[in-house]
Amino acid sequence: MPRPVTPLELKGISKSFGGVVALQDVDFTLEPGEIHGLVGENGAGKSTLMKIIAGVHTEYDGTMCVAGKQVRHHSARSARAAGIGMVHQELSIIPELSVAENVMLGAQPTTRLGLIDWAAMTRKATDYLRELGIDVDPRATIGGLPLGLQQLVEIARVLSSGARIIILDEPTSALSPPEVEVLFGLLRRVRLGGRSIVFISHFLDDILRVSDRITIFRNGRRIETAAVAYVDKAWIIDRMIGAGHRALEESYLGEIALDSRPSAPVVLETQGITGPGFHDVSLQARAGEVLGIYGFMGSGQLELARALFGKTRLRAGQVILKGRPLLLRNTAQARRAGIAFLPESRRSMLFAQEPIYKNMSISILGRISRLWLRPAQERAIAAGHVKHLQIRPASVDRLLGTLSGGNQQKVALAKWLTHLPQVLVLSEPTRGMDVGAKDDVLTIVKDLRAKGIAVVVVSTEPETILSLADRILVMKRGTIVHEFAAETVSKDRLLAVA
Ligand SMILES: Nc1ncnc2c1ncn2[C@@H]1O[C@H](COP(=O)(O)OP(=O)(O)O)[C@@H](O)[C@H]1O
Ligand SMILES: [Mg+2]
Repeated sequence: MPRPVTPLELKGISKSFGGVVALQDVDFTLEPGEIHGLVGENGAGKSTLMKIIAGVHTEYDGTMCVAGKQVRHHSARSARAAGIGMVHQELSIIPELSVAENVMLGAQPTTRLGLIDWAAMTRKATDYLRELGIDVDPRATIGGLPLGLQQLVEIARVLSSGARIIILDEPTSALSPPEVEVLFGLLRRVRLGGRSIVFISHFLDDILRVSDRITIFRNGRRIETAAVAYVDKAWIIDRMIGAGHRALEESYLGEIALDSRPSAPVVLETQGITGPGFHDVSLQARAGEVLGIYGFMGSGQLELARALFGKTRLRAGQVILKGRPLLLRNTAQARRAGIAFLPESRRSMLFAQEPIYKNMSISILGRISRLWLRPAQERAIAAGHVKHLQIRPASVDRLLGTLSGGNQQKVALAKWLTHLPQVLVLSEPTRGMDVGAKDDVLTIVKDLRAKGIAVVVVSTEPETILSLADRILVMKRGTIVHEFAAETVSKDRLLAVA
């Protein structure tokens, strides 16, 4: 019997963005009918390689063969024509259109007059969705559906396009556990048809369950490819981190002693709370303690943080502040109760067109007006913060919008130093910051802790959690799966339970 032709073969792929080397001399092959898992830390080069395969990046060194023939895509369209379909990390559905239209996008059946054949389109999409086991009304407007369903529909679109090579870049981060099951069932069926799938995920359990082979990337290089039957989670983490890299290894294996304070009074408590994106979460945040909540992207921790501030309604359970049950119907109630929140998108909390001093006092305006504080006093308070927090440039009159992200974050935090809340919830407090700004932000958070506030830090960055937290809860698929307290913990142990 002739050996089936290799669907995809890349050799010696290198790619740089300006001075940043994203990929270095990477070989990669896909077998017919395999699910190939791709793992590696953020920035390892996974998405870049997939975008080269899908014709998004056209400038690179090295060669690519599709079904035995050397190709050089000049666009995503030419890659699609060669049978390559990709679901990107960012969804590309059109929210205003129906499910059926989205599934058939770019391949709508037409009548003899060249018009879109709506009946045929709905029928085809319905059949297709049923075949894939996706339970959704094809006539529904897609933008109104839960994110997980939108993602499944997008995947259905790529599958229905007839692609022989299907790339899924972190498709499970928005999916609920039953939706993940639907996706896996669907991938296994697609594989039976001899098509090949690349599956990128941070969820190593998922990768181990569904993949035939796995490739590990680190720092732009392919480290190893192996049959999944022969590997386990520890083996993968080992290669993701890279034993032998002294400095890196230390940051992973370095043991951090958690300074948990089990006797400090509980300020905030949740009992079995459930809301959009998380379920059955019970936790306690204590005075003068930083409670870190860690999880991969899409584990529900950002949603939990929003709910603690009354941004989304709870469906079950309750929140208790200093022994009193709280009715969190909206953010104003949370604020009055003494809960402060700094969301992952700082822009929504700050006023770019206002000077620094206004941004620092806006949260305390109520207090200022009561005390008849004059603008001069307002500015004096702000000047103290600007100096103490080393905000650059050091002028209270600078418009906030002209500051770097790190300095904006310091301004946002300064508000809470003037008017101490009982609980401060920080969502991704260091995301997108350079090392210096990160360090300053960490110092401010420690100051706030020292003032006796219960600080809850929610983050997908292990370094941030490890350098701040006195106690760590790990979230996975919307619920808490592990607690680290009064013990030592390292980055690899944190990743291993996530
Ligand atoms: N469009 C781009 N412009 C500049 N740098 C980029 C671009 N895309 C990726 N990079 C850089 O290339 C490296 C690899 O990124 P990426 O492939 O997205 O990693 P991964 O998907 O494994 O997290 C990173 O250092 C990233 O910052
Ligand atoms: Mg990526």
